[in-house]
Amino acid sequence: MSVTTGHPQLVAAIASEITSSGPIPFARFMELALYHPRFGYYMRQPDAADQERIGWSGDFYTSSDVHPILGEALAKQAIQIDAMMGSPEPFTVVEMGSGKGLLAQHFLSACQRESNVFCQRLRYVLIERSPAMRELQRRNLDPWLSRPGLVTWVEGLDGLAPDSVSGLFLSNELVDAFPVHRIQVTAGRTEELYVDYREGRFVECLRPLSTTRLDQYLQKLGSTWPEGYRTEVNLQAMDWMEQVAQRIDRGFVVTIDYGHTAQDLYGPERRNGTFLCYFQQLTNEDPFMRVGEQDMTAHVDFSCLAAAGEEQGLHVTGFTNQMSFLMGLGVEDMIGELEPESQELRAAIHLLKPDGMGSTFKVLIQHKGIRYPELDGLKFKPFFGSALAVGATG
Ligand SMILES: C[S@@+](CC[C@H](N)C(=O)[O-])C[C@H]1O[C@@H](n2cnc3c(N)ncnc32)[C@H](O)[C@@H]1O
Repeated sequence: MSVTTGHPQLVAAIASEITSSGPIPFARFMELALYHPRFGYYMRQPDAADQERIGWSGDFYTSSDVHPILGEALAKQAIQIDAMMGSPEPFTVVEMGSGKGLLAQHFLSACQRESNVFCQRLRYVLIERSPAMRELQRRNLDPWLSRPGLVTWVEGLDGLAPDSVSGLFLSNELVDAFPVHRIQVTAGRTEELYVDYREGRFVECLRPLSTTRLDQYLQKLGSTWPEGYRTEVNLQAMDWMEQVAQRIDRGFVVTIDYGHTAQDLYGPERRNGTFLCYFQQLTNEDPFMRVGEQDMTAHVDFSCLAAAGEEQGLHVTGFTNQMSFLMGLGVEDMIGELEPESQELRAAIHLLKPDGMGSTFKVLIQHKGIRYPELDGLKFKPFFGSALAVGATG
């Protein structure tokens, strides 16, 4: 049994919920650990003793901490999409879960360099749940705030009217940060991991599935797993995709994250699932340690995202990995301009590594209201792309 440590007020708040209502599904525990309105990992203002969350001196780093090429490539992709859509007025980019706002910073700088005309019609809308992150975004996007209407924030997806977005909906490492349900095969039955609080510690226990939606998800998967198999189900990802699709009038949704097709994610070799915690650049599998002081994630099921979008009229344009996406958008030329042997060159190459970020990160692109689009970012399609082709693509 692991020792419970963490942010004292958060531990007390979760323990109190369990004491008054009984063990909670793991997804609820993860929701509170990361997003408790006052004490959650992402929601608290880091105090002097706290590390920054995202970045080289934080718990984990993302592509935008490494090098601006992802933001730059996305800007190129957006400019191609804008031309394909006949230059709508405005062209809206919505970025959800923007963290420190670096991707937006790199995207906006590149747009300014590449096309002033596009910049005039551009509206960049950020949706961020964490007040601490919103503050960092304001700081990092300061140079663009003086242009009225260019960069704005909305509270959540509800802040966007249905069918209101013509342009591009972006996210990087958002979906892996949604709370997941964890399940396990025991004595031939699939049960759900709950969290109990006993003798001053959080402990796992197994219970019947907390919602029929999990049953439905598992039935759709149709997998048969061996005894002891453990994995995660991200129901919030499906709700999110449905809501995103409803807000798009015409345009594309680009979702970047680590993950797999359902076939790969739920294959026999991943018998312990993909749930991980991050603290000071190290991973562990113990969510009851440093509660509210470490990040928690699970890999994304891209097949389920594709299917949820398809049900709302959002068609799969393509599915690729970060390396292929960047290569399709001319990253070789961008890298060619960097100083040989420089730290900057090494950083850019880090994002492309076929045995690292280049292949771990996948890019799902979906579209609505555009017939048979061909995007530069999808020029190179690795073999697994076809496994996502659900329904029509027109
Ligand atoms: C892993 S971080 C990624 C940050 C950033 N995109 C990057 O690549 O550096 C996840 C971010 O998503 C935000 N987030 C999580 N759930 C959200 C939601 N429902 N709405 C808006 N933001 C959310 C978190 O607060 C956090 O800033």
